[in-house]
Amino acid sequence: MINAPHLILIGLMGSGKSSVGKICAQQLGRSFIDTDDVIATNNNAPITELFSILGESVFRDQEQAVVAQVCSSESSLVIACGGGAVLDRRSRDIVKSSGTVVWLQASPDELQRRIKDPTTRPLLAGGQPSKILTDLADIRNPIYQSTADFCIDTQSLTATEVAAAVIKEYAPCPA
Ligand code: S3P
Repeated sequence: MINAPHLILIGLMGSGKSSVGKICAQQLGRSFIDTDDVIATNNNAPITELFSILGESVFRDQEQAVVAQVCSSESSLVIACGGGAVLDRRSRDIVKSSGTVVWLQASPDELQRRIKDPTTRPLLAGGQPSKILTDLADIRNPIYQSTADFCIDTQSLTATEVAAAVIKEYAPCPA
């Protein structure tokens, strides 16, 4: 059940959800929550280590619970979801009924350029980041598209410019 309409950012790793989310939160006068940060705090360990400590399946279960918990907040938030969060049908249903969902999109090459250090992302470990990001985009982009209320092409924009584009589109439809 929706308690407050949130602004929820989804998209692949490197799409700018955290940096854009912080700027949007500041401009909207809201708190910002990153689901990865909540999971890391709950486990007292960084995301980079959690896939190997917990295994991906347990990580995903925790991620689903965190999405549900954060979206049930009574105050309106700006929420950045981990890149894989909306692969879970329950999380998709929750975010869609909890506010406005925005997909931040960029090409795999641009995502790789922004990530810089692939060791910060467990899914990029041990493989070729450009291929992994391309494969993830092929699988996930249709899911992001069907979950989002609108998409921002972030390819050639700074985080500040993306935040401005999000807020411009979001302002008329915050509920
Ligand atoms: C993941 C994205 C990461 C983090 C974890 C898994 C994914 O979050 O949740 O490494 O499955 O795409 P960011 O999208 O914030 O990097």
